Amino acid sequence: MTIQFSTKIFPQADLQSPKLQKTSLKTLLGHSTDCLVLGYSKADLDGFSGAKGAKVKTGFFPELDLLLGGSITHANVVGDLDSKQASVCMLRAEKSWSTNGVKAKRLLLVSLGDVHLASERSLTTYSKVARSALKELSGGSIESALWFTPSFALAHKVDFIAEEVRLTIQYAGDQAYRFGVRQPAMKFKAKDKADTFKSLVFAGNDACSKELKLAVEQGISMVEGMNLAKDLGNLPPNICTPTYLGKAAQDLSKKTSLKVEVLGRKQIEALGMGSFLSVAKGSDTPPQFIVMRHQGGKAGEAPIVLVGKGITFDTGGISLKPGEAMDEMKYDMCGAASVIGTMYSVALMKLKKNVIGVIPTCENMPSGQATRPGDIVKSMSGQTIEVLNTDAEGRLILCDALTYVERFKPAAVIDIATLTGACIIALGHVHSGLFSEDENLVSELTKAGHASLDTVWRLPLDAAYHEQLKSNFADVANIGGRPAGSVTAACFLSRFTEKYKWAHLDIAGTAWKSGAAKGSTGRPVPLLVNFLLERK
Ligand code: BES
Ligand code: MN
Ligand code: ZN
Repeated sequence: MTIQFSTKIFPQADLQSPKLQKTSLKTLLGHSTDCLVLGYSKADLDGFSGAKGAKVKTGFFPELDLLLGGSITHANVVGDLDSKQASVCMLRAEKSWSTNGVKAKRLLLVSLGDVHLASERSLTTYSKVARSALKELSGGSIESALWFTPSFALAHKVDFIAEEVRLTIQYAGDQAYRFGVRQPAMKFKAKDKADTFKSLVFAGNDACSKELKLAVEQGISMVEGMNLAKDLGNLPPNICTPTYLGKAAQDLSKKTSLKVEVLGRKQIEALGMGSFLSVAKGSDTPPQFIVMRHQGGKAGEAPIVLVGKGITFDTGGISLKPGEAMDEMKYDMCGAASVIGTMYSVALMKLKKNVIGVIPTCENMPSGQATRPGDIVKSMSGQTIEVLNTDAEGRLILCDALTYVERFKPAAVIDIATLTGACIIALGHVHSGLFSEDENLVSELTKAGHASLDTVWRLPLDAAYHEQLKSNFADVANIGGRPAGSVTAACFLSRFTEKYKWAHLDIAGTAWKSGAAKGSTGRPVPLLVNFLLERK
C-alpha cells in the first residue's frame, strides 16, 4: 500500500492568532479523521502550565483544553506533555470530546521545542519533529491523519512550508515503502505487512494554500520517483538487466510526456564508445544506452543533463571481487535508478525546465571475451585508456556518456554513480561525495542537499591528483592507486567534461543500506529533485 497525500484548506484556521484560536480549533477538531496532528512550542506549553510563573494563560492550549474537556490538563498533570523538541503526546477521544463537536478520534501533539531560539528553527530540527510524529502515525490502527501544517511552520513563515511539506512527504513515503508492491507481474511478495496508515492530509489556511498545494504535488511526484529508484535498485540482477532498465525507462514514456530512446550494441559501436563497450564485453546480456528527455522549458533553453552509472551487476570482471557481500553489487546501477526516478518525478510535476537523463548500462562480468587488465581501449573522446583494473569499470562507461552529452550543449551536467568503495571510507553512509570545480553548482547542490536532508560533502579535484592517473602506454590509466581513490576516480571523469559545467556525485555510501536493513534508499532523488526545483 502506498500513502495518499492530499490537502484540505480551512480558510481562517490560525492557532497563532489569539482571536482565531477558538474557532480554528473547533473547525480542525470538527473534521473527521483518525488523528489530528498539531505542533506546539515551548511557549504554548509554558503559557498553559505557567511554568515560568506566568499568570495569564497564553497560546492555544487553554482553548484546546476547554474543547477537549480537560484532556490537556490531564496529560500535563501526569507528565505526558513535554517541551523537549520532537516529544509527542497522543490523546484519544473521550466522551466529552463528542459533546463539544470533536470528530477527530485522536489528537497527536508534537513539540517543536523552543521556536524562539533561532538554533531550533532549522529544517534539520523540523525533520526530527516530523519523523517523530510520523512514527506515531504508523504501525498502529491509524489509517488517516490531518496534519495542520501552519502549526509546524517553525518560523511561522510561509517560506518554509514548501520545504517542510516536501520533507514530510519524503519521510512518510520512505516509511511506507515496501519492496514488491509495484511488481505484481514479478511474483515478488512484499515481505512485511503493509502499514495501515494510508492517508496523510495536509491542512492549511488561506495564507498558505497556494504554497501548500504546490508543495504537496511536488512531494508526491518526488516520492513516486524515489519509489521507482528503490524498486529498480532492489530488484535482483537476473531481472534488472540493462534491457530491463531500458524497458523501465520506455514504460515511463507511455505514462508521461517523457521522450525515451534506447540504443543497442550496434548503435553504441557506431558512436565509437570503445570504453563503454570494453566493460560490456564479458557479459552475455547486451549493453544499452538510454536517453530520456523532459521538455518542460523553452525549446532553445539549454538542458540540465543527468548521467547515471548503470552497472546492473559488478563482479569486478577479470579483476574479480572477493565473494563477501558481492550480492550488493546489484546496487551498482543505483546512479541509473536515481536518474530514471528523478526524470519520472520531473515529468510528473511538469517541471518548467529542460532535463535530459542519460544512462550507459551493462554488466561487468568475467569471461573469455572479457577485457583484461592491461588492455588499452579507445574512448569516444579519442583518448586512449589503459585498463589496469577491470573493477574500475564505472568510470569507463561514464566517460563515453559524458562525451556523448556534449551534443546537448548543456547548462550543466551532473553524473551520479556508485563509483568507489573509497568514498564509503571517506564519508561513510551520511553524505554523498560531491566533486566539482563550478562554485555555483557546488553551492546549489549543497543547498538542495540540506533542504532534502539528502546531503553532500565536497571533496577535491585538484590538478595534483591527476598525476596518479598517468600511463606509460595510453593517454590515461583507469586507476590511480589506493590513496584518494574517490578523488582520482573523479579526476578521471573530469578529463571528459571540459566542454561544460559539471559535477559528480559518488553515491557508493548512500544509495543503499546493508545488513538487516538491506535495501535501496532512493538517494539522491530528493537531492536532485530539490536541486532542479530550486534552480533558477
Ligand atoms: N561499484 C564499485 C564501487 C563500490 C564498491 C561501491 C563497494 C559500493 C561498495 C566500483 O565499480 C569499484 O569496484 N571500484 C573500485 C575501484 C578500484 C578498483 C580502483 C573500488 O572502489 O574498489
Ligand atoms: Mn567495480
Ligand atoms: Zn562498479
